[in-house]
Amino acid sequence: MQNIIFIAPPAAGKGTLSNLIEEKYHMPHISMGDILRNKTKENSEEALYIKNLIDKGSLISDDIANRLMEERLNQDDTNDGFILDGYPRTIDQAIKLENVIKKLDKGKSVVIFLNIDEEEALKRILGRIICPKCHKVYNKFKTHTAPKVEGICNICGTSLTLRADDNSESFKKRFETYIEITKPLLEYYDTKGMLYTIQSIDTPNEMLMQIEQVLEGIK
Ligand code: AP5
Ligand code: MG
Repeated sequence: MQNIIFIAPPAAGKGTLSNLIEEKYHMPHISMGDILRNKTKENSEEALYIKNLIDKGSLISDDIANRLMEERLNQDDTNDGFILDGYPRTIDQAIKLENVIKKLDKGKSVVIFLNIDEEEALKRILGRIICPKCHKVYNKFKTHTAPKVEGICNICGTSLTLRADDNSESFKKRFETYIEITKPLLEYYDTKGMLYTIQSIDTPNEMLMQIEQVLEGIK
């Protein structure tokens, strides 16, 4: 199986699509945001540093992001392919992934850009609810991503909660950070012939079908 790397603005559906691919193909979904949010539960200065930056919508240092990703990708479940959601987000991280972690060598990798405009992304952020236990993502306002029972996770039955950074202010900062720092990665991967673009429409299952066509085409 190929490795899939999602690069996209906040709320474009990186987590949602990763969940669908994970359910169907049993590939590990590695979300940098989830790894960092888990870290914030520890009692340490680093945890506090990470929490402050996430709440503000700013990126955590490359050193920390690279170290945590290296630890995660060195686990054996990634040997047959994986989904990267939210990493790399800087050129430094992309170079680390290629030259140091080296897991991209094992099979083909595709970079999928999920395209969404800022106004639609903000609407999605304001309706997002998440499962604090299994990390599944839902939306209060969208038919195709609403939970079956209001406020309850379809998968594990846990009560759904809001993310601390899901407010207009943090979203604005995250979107700006994406444009300034992460978007240049699209050209970086396009030059390498690895980039595919999918429009983030309101039907995630149709987006999944488009991703499957991309994967079929490059087997
Ligand atoms: P992260 O958790 O990755 O947040 P983000 O990039 O802002 O992206 P989101 O998780 O908000 O959006 P998403 O694209 O996953 O959308 P989702 O599927 O949830 O990172 C958080 C923070 O961690 C960063 O700000 C930074 O501080 C730090 N960080 C993370 N990675 C880092 C790195 N590499 N280096 C340094 N720092 C890092 O969907 C959003 C909503 O829309 C949901 O409600 C969903 O149900 C709904 N929805 C999604 N798709 C559809 C659809 N097709 N149709 C209808 N509804 C949809
Ligand atoms: Mg996400």
